[in-house]
Amino acid sequence: MKKIILGALCFCSLSIFAQPKSTTVRDEKMDKFIDNLMSKMTIEEKIGQLNLPSVGDFTTGQAKNSNIAEKIKKGQVGGLFNIKGVAKIKDVQRIAVEESRLGIPLIFGMDVIHGYETAFPIPLAMAATWNTATIEQAARTAAVEASSDGISWTFSPMVDITRDPRWGRFSEGSGEDPFLGGAIAKAMVKGYQGDNTYSRNDQIMACVKHFALYGAAEAGRDYNTTDMSRIRMYNEYLYPYKAAVEAGVGSVMASFNEIDGVPATANKWLLTDLLRKQWGFDGFVVSDYTGISEMIAHGIGDLQQVSARALDAGLDMDMVSEGFNGTLAKSLKEGKITEEQINTACRRILEAKYKLGLFKDPYKFGNEKIAKEKIFSPEHRAFARKVAAESFVLLKNDNNTLPLAKKGTIAVVGPLADARENMNGTWSVAADINKPSTLVEGLKQVAGKNINVIFAKGSNLAKDKSFEDRATLFGKTLHRDNRSEEELLNEAINAAAKADIIVAALGESAEMSGECSSRTDLNIPDVQHQLLEAMLKTGKPVVLVLFTGRPVTITWEDKHVPAILNVWFGGTEAAPAIADVLFGNVNPSGKLPATFPKNVGQIPLFYNHKNTGRPLAEGHWFEKFRSNYLDVDNDPLYPFGYGLSYTTFQYGDIQLSSSSMNNNSEITASVKVTNTGKYDGSEVVQLYIRDMVGSVTRPVKELKGFEKIFLKAGESKDVTFKITPELLKFYNADLEYVNEPGDFQLMIGSNSRDVKTIGFELK
Ligand code: NOJ
Repeated sequence: MKKIILGALCFCSLSIFAQPKSTTVRDEKMDKFIDNLMSKMTIEEKIGQLNLPSVGDFTTGQAKNSNIAEKIKKGQVGGLFNIKGVAKIKDVQRIAVEESRLGIPLIFGMDVIHGYETAFPIPLAMAATWNTATIEQAARTAAVEASSDGISWTFSPMVDITRDPRWGRFSEGSGEDPFLGGAIAKAMVKGYQGDNTYSRNDQIMACVKHFALYGAAEAGRDYNTTDMSRIRMYNEYLYPYKAAVEAGVGSVMASFNEIDGVPATANKWLLTDLLRKQWGFDGFVVSDYTGISEMIAHGIGDLQQVSARALDAGLDMDMVSEGFNGTLAKSLKEGKITEEQINTACRRILEAKYKLGLFKDPYKFGNEKIAKEKIFSPEHRAFARKVAAESFVLLKNDNNTLPLAKKGTIAVVGPLADARENMNGTWSVAADINKPSTLVEGLKQVAGKNINVIFAKGSNLAKDKSFEDRATLFGKTLHRDNRSEEELLNEAINAAAKADIIVAALGESAEMSGECSSRTDLNIPDVQHQLLEAMLKTGKPVVLVLFTGRPVTITWEDKHVPAILNVWFGGTEAAPAIADVLFGNVNPSGKLPATFPKNVGQIPLFYNHKNTGRPLAEGHWFEKFRSNYLDVDNDPLYPFGYGLSYTTFQYGDIQLSSSSMNNNSEITASVKVTNTGKYDGSEVVQLYIRDMVGSVTRPVKELKGFEKIFLKAGESKDVTFKITPELLKFYNADLEYVNEPGDFQLMIGSNSRDVKTIGFELK
């Protein structure tokens, strides 16, 4: 398995936020081609390239018939999204190529977020694999499917760091940590774009989003304001976007939120000074959906004003607002923008199309034969099943409740047990919600003859029907049962009476996370909780199979339920994968990419926090005049990096090659890890570092390396991390990227809490 010491290997190139990248080598042939093309384009046609409408419907062929077709003919459209299927895409491309004056091909985008028709686990779950090779391969698989279906551009990866599980879009990113998020961002860009040459017809352009800080929305309410100091931004939030840029991502999507009082969509500091001048990004920037027109509500002008501001800030493509298309020509006439600015944006869009090879062959993407062969193929599904199983996190397993015995009767209860339409999870637009197996079906399929699986729903998603309606949009129904709560519960109690063990499939529906799915209460909803209590009262062993798109507050469950397996939303093959893990055919190895708080009041709660001047002594709950709460301790329910296995791993003491280093040397830190249990299994060995004294305050620990290893029962392995001067750098008060001599603590362990510690010095 792949070792990640991203900082150690790549910090040289990632290190300088404040320096422009050395001059990009221009492709002279491309420049000439585009110069020539642009010399023939009218202003209206140039502005047209900046326009990205949504077709808005996957199935009706609207683009061909609506006024979008007319716009395409007039050269008023640069690309389209939300259109699916080779035939449709080719039809529309034909309009652009054959019926518009200059025949400029369109770029076709889509939210290919976690797989195409073969849906992989939601991104947060993918992050829980801590396996960048797997994540890259999943992105590759998605690119193969999407490109064969005509898609050349995906609005992924989403790399927004977030520390607030109230925010529904927690599900779409890689969690709370910049280092892990950066490694995943790189892996995904590589998976989609390959070697960045787009020489093959299965390499599609990635779009890193949402630039920037979207995950820091105040109060976890979607689309809300963010406000953050530069030092926090640079040290904690920007790293994954930068990692994607370093990996050569072709495009960037501006976020909805404001930064320093200016929406990202029109934020010149963000889109030009930081992204282009400091980071050297040379692709194009697209707004988010109606990101331009939303600036009217943000209160910074009318459509003409905000469109001009966006262009001036460095935004190149307008998703859906029709602000560029509708107003830039007027602004040009009135001297509010320059032709040069339009040319710059237009050139960037044309360059993307050129790089993708669309001028050579506008139909390069989309091949019925390959689509038929690859999309939702048995190979892709088998891989998705493996990935799903790798993403599950075993949170608790008292008395080895899991794995389940392969005999007897299992009562499966809960509203998520028979929830086919929910298995793919949020943001799986290309996937068919009717294709996945339900958990009950998956269990039956994997169980074998000696097991009897019986099912009773036991409760709806929530008592309140209107809540359930809001949480099951886009056809992702849970088939609400109109029987009384009592009837439902009694049915489950009767089923439990016949069983040896109870599997309770509870938690969130797919659409309880994702866009515009913020929550203030992160408990398992009321009636589901009652069901769980009733199941526990039977005295039978209970396994909680937790479906969730975010960290939830399961403090009560942790206290009372003997075994908890967090399965997130595992995609198309989630059901057999859950069965694989429950029956022990696969040993769970997922680790949390985000802290699980004890209650909502602790939020934001994250492992790499600052110490404060009045830290609470370790192991204490409350001390007067210390930084703590009266009613709950400071510790999380489950720390970042946490996850159990059916086996156990023992960590030896850390061996350092030297107790000191300087800026011209490096040291290695090794630890022996032994599988001391009865099962073969994988472990994610995690390296954390703390800078003990700095010119500015430093976090209590920061992830700086990880390696996922496989150990047979009884086997040991030495895991070695390289500590380089680069790895010890951070942004100081002047935003210079430096390390500072002094004492450091190095920690290695199986999660951010349970670590071995040793000191070393940077001289
Ligand atoms: C809005 C979302 O914020 C973004 O993530 C997505 O890519 C666009 N809509 C396009 O669907």
